[in-house]
Amino acid sequence: MPRIAPISEAVGHSVERHGARPSHLVQILREVQAELRCLPGPALDELARALRTPRVRVESAASFYHFFHSESHGAYEILFSDNIIDQMLGKREMMQYLCKLLWLQPGKLSEDGLVYVESTSDIGMADQGPAALVNGHVLPSLDESRLELVAGLIRDQKPLARWPRMLFEVADNVRKAGPLLGQAFEPGSALRKVLKQGAERTLAELDASNLRGRGGAGFKTAVKWASCRRAQGSEKHVVCNADEGEPGTFKDRVLLQSHADLVFEGMTLAARVIGASHGMVYLRGEYLYLLQRLEAVLARRRKDGLLGKGILGEQGFDFDIEIHLGAGAYICGEESALIESLEGKPGKPRNRPPYPDTFGYLGEPTGVNNVETFACAAKIAVHGGAWFAGMGTPASTGSKLMSVSGDVKRPGVYEYPFGVSVKQVLSDCGAGNAQAVQVGGPSGTCVSWREFDRRICFEDVPTAGAFMVFSRDRDMFEVARNFAHFFAHESCGFCTPCRVGTSLLRNHMDKLAAGKGSAYDMVQMKRLMHIMLTMSHCGLGHTAANPVVQTMEKFPDAYERRLRNLDFEPAFDLDGALQTARLITGRDDEWAHIVSKQP
Ligand SMILES: Cc1cc2nc3c(=O)[nH]c(=O)nc-3n(C[C@H](O)[C@H](O)[C@H](O)COP(=O)(O)O)c2cc1C
Ligand code: SF4
Repeated sequence: MPRIAPISEAVGHSVERHGARPSHLVQILREVQAELRCLPGPALDELARALRTPRVRVESAASFYHFFHSESHGAYEILFSDNIIDQMLGKREMMQYLCKLLWLQPGKLSEDGLVYVESTSDIGMADQGPAALVNGHVLPSLDESRLELVAGLIRDQKPLARWPRMLFEVADNVRKAGPLLGQAFEPGSALRKVLKQGAERTLAELDASNLRGRGGAGFKTAVKWASCRRAQGSEKHVVCNADEGEPGTFKDRVLLQSHADLVFEGMTLAARVIGASHGMVYLRGEYLYLLQRLEAVLARRRKDGLLGKGILGEQGFDFDIEIHLGAGAYICGEESALIESLEGKPGKPRNRPPYPDTFGYLGEPTGVNNVETFACAAKIAVHGGAWFAGMGTPASTGSKLMSVSGDVKRPGVYEYPFGVSVKQVLSDCGAGNAQAVQVGGPSGTCVSWREFDRRICFEDVPTAGAFMVFSRDRDMFEVARNFAHFFAHESCGFCTPCRVGTSLLRNHMDKLAAGKGSAYDMVQMKRLMHIMLTMSHCGLGHTAANPVVQTMEKFPDAYERRLRNLDFEPAFDLDGALQTARLITGRDDEWAHIVSKQP
């Protein structure tokens, strides 16, 4: 087994590497945990001292992120993706099989302290599930033979670096390419264009393209960049949102894996337009496997004069990009939570306004965009706004990458002009027997078989990219229950309507699943949705009840067959709970029971 470094050594090295900047706390915690296998109290003390920051600040960050833990998870931590699609592909059976091979229980460190197996939220591999992370690195397409190999490697205590590479190979699975994925891009071509035509003209082309953000909300990119350009600030920042935590979404993974130049070029273009010198990619922790590859692309771009000081020989055009890793918190995809996380804090959404374009990273103007938005912007700089606006619909121009998964013959990434019908996508991916598609992930829209003529665009069914297909053999109640668990797990806990609402919603769904539901629960769930929608602090709380309420409306049978009572049914057996008292008092008469013993 590899040596565990002493605390002072692990903390010292990491703090030094990050220039003792408290804003790098999440990165430092990641590194210290990788060395120590956990974040024990004395390590947090040492960190607070070394960073000259209050202990409570270190503690609050360490306790916020799902990937951090205060007790050891051994030399091998294996986390199975718990997305509904991974479940449909056999996640539960695979996890049980591995636990059996290794003689352990999920959520408990093995007796020899070597290995820990547990579930985690979606890891962005719905096209090649069931998938898991081992010490943060993706193991896709798991089956029994792969797990037998993994168990053998663990038993032999082989370091991860010596595991067969094929276990870690992640396919792109591009099934349909368009202007983003299918047309070659010459690194530097967009930057040469902006230097030739100037920032104002580039912004005008972006405006003419009508590009809208690909991260979900669909805000017009030119408006955001123009506002950030106007904002006052001694330093400005460009942030690429690569958190991609929405279950069922994986198109940003493919862009970063095989089209990173396009994304970095879009970021550099944004820097030129808004006047930023500092860029950051917030890469979800689950995509750790991409880090080295992305660093290599950045290094090449620096060498080629596409990053650094005096880009392409232009004096004063200085811009560089660093990569920050997340630590397993879906809420960090929300842009203000993401900025908090970049500053080394718990990822809790800020009050807005002010928006990041005027008050972002360290209180300075910051342009935040999705990975795909930056890739589109680079293409628009090269080909012009009219070219882009010529694709899609008037309010949803250009193409859209869709992450297609579930009950389909050909899961993967599909690029379509906006406006494509759900029916067309289903036909292309080989979904013969679909009853519903969850478009845009759990926070998106459930489209039933009656609505397959609807179109993917901001005017009809908007999406950040997920397209999860469920055949007629699937139970839509169980799909919604999985999503309710997801939101209860991922609520950041900052505001009461969401913190309590998501837990209550999950509990009602579990009660129904246990056969103890009543019409009362259905009414309560609708009430909760209203409270969460109107009173939550951020988008997570606003949308968390969507899957339950939408499936309730579109698939009422899936709920009604679970209702035991049309009035009220308690969640637990009240009479059974009194059994201990009956034994102690020696009474078992009718009055010692809440319900009559008579049939
Ligand atoms: C709970 C929540 C999670 C989000 N996750 C992501 C994400 O993973 N990736 C992303 O680009 N945007 C995500 N967003 C949207 C961002 O807040 C923001 O709108 C986006 O990064 C802006 O980029 P765009 O204009 O290019 O879409 C999320 C929003 C919410 C409320
Ligand atoms: S709505 Fe939920 S995720 Fe958003 S701030 Fe409130 S508790 Fe956090």
